Amino acid sequence: MINWNSLSIPVMAAPMFIVSNLNLVVASCRAGVIGAFPSANPRSPETLDGWLHAIREAEKETLDQGGAFAPFCVNMLASSALDKEKRAAALATVRKHEAPLILTNMGDPREVVDGAHEWGGKVFHDVTTLRHAEKAIEAGVDGLMLVCAGAGGHAGTLSPFSFLPRVRKFFDGPIMLAGGIADGHGVAAALALGADIVVMGTRFIATAESGTFDDHKEMLVSSNSEDVLFTDAIAGLPASFLKPSMIRAGLDPDNLPAPLGQHRPNLPEGIKPWKSVWSGGHSTALIEDVPSVQTVVDRLAKELDSARSPRDWRRALTAIR
Ligand SMILES: Cc1cc2nc3c(=O)[nH]c(=O)nc-3n(C[C@H](O)[C@H](O)[C@H](O)COP(=O)(O)O)c2cc1C
Repeated sequence: MINWNSLSIPVMAAPMFIVSNLNLVVASCRAGVIGAFPSANPRSPETLDGWLHAIREAEKETLDQGGAFAPFCVNMLASSALDKEKRAAALATVRKHEAPLILTNMGDPREVVDGAHEWGGKVFHDVTTLRHAEKAIEAGVDGLMLVCAGAGGHAGTLSPFSFLPRVRKFFDGPIMLAGGIADGHGVAAALALGADIVVMGTRFIATAESGTFDDHKEMLVSSNSEDVLFTDAIAGLPASFLKPSMIRAGLDPDNLPAPLGQHRPNLPEGIKPWKSVWSGGHSTALIEDVPSVQTVVDRLAKELDSARSPRDWRRALTAIR
C-alpha cells in the first residue's frame, strides 16, 4: 500500500533525462513530494539496481528517525517496439525493489501495468491528447499524467483548462497535471481544475540537488517564457528548449536545421539534445533562484495555503477608476 500521507503537498518532481539524479529523488521524497527519475538515467540495469537500493535505504533511515518519505516513481518507455530487451531488464529490476509508482511514456503500457500490479505498484501513463488518454485507460493504467502546453521536455499543445475537464468526463481516477506550473498558486489552480497531483519539472531543475550543469540552472533564472522554443529540430520530436542554450551551442534559433525523421535531428557534429541544448518550459519566467529542494517545497506549501483564499476580485474590479 502506498502511504499517500507521506506527501506534504500533492506534487511530483518530474522525471527528467540527465537532470533527475539520485540526490534529487531522495531530497524530493524527504521533502514530502514524489521523487521521480527515468530508468535510463542510471544507464545500466546494475546502476538502476544501485539507485533503487539507495532510495530504499534512504527511506528506511528516514523512517527509522521518525521522518516521512514520499513515494518514488520510476519512468519507463511503454512502447513494445522500442528497446524491448532493455525495457524487460529495467522492469525486472524495478520489480525487485517493488517501486510504488511507475510513469510510462509512449506506446501501450499494458505489459508494465500487468507486471506492476503483481507487486502492488501503480502505473500512470503520460499523455498529451484525448485519444492517448482513452487508449491508456483501456490498457488498465491506474492514473494519467496530462502534459499540457508550456511544459518542459516533450510538451503537449493543449491548454489544461480544456484538456483536464474533457478527460474528467470519462475518467474519475487519479490525474497528474504538468506544464508551466512552478508555484503554489499554480498548484491550487490545478487542484481546482480537478487534478490530484501537480508535476513540476522546470522548477526542480533549478535546485541545488539536480544533476544538470550549473549553467543550465542559471539559464532558467535569467530566461523568460519567450526564450522557450517548442521545436522538433533539436530532438527529432517536438520538445521545449531554451533559445539561449541554442545560441551558446552555436545554433541560430530562427534558422534550425530540419530533422531527418523521428528521433533523428540533423544537428552539427558534437551538439547533443538535452546535453548541449537545454530544456525548460514556460515557467522558467517564474524561476528566480537555485535553492534546495526543501526550500522549494516549503515555499510551495506556503503559497498553496495562501492561494486557498481566492483573490478578492470584486474589490480589485471596483478599484478601477
Ligand atoms: C530537461 C527535461 C528532461 C525531461 N525528461 C523527461 C523524461 O525523461 N521522461 C519524461 O517522462 N518526461 C521528461 N520531461 C518532462 C517532465 O516529466 C514534465 O512533463 C515537464 O517538465 C513538466 O513541465 P514543466 O517543466 O513546465 O514543469 C523532461 C523535462 C525536462 C525539462
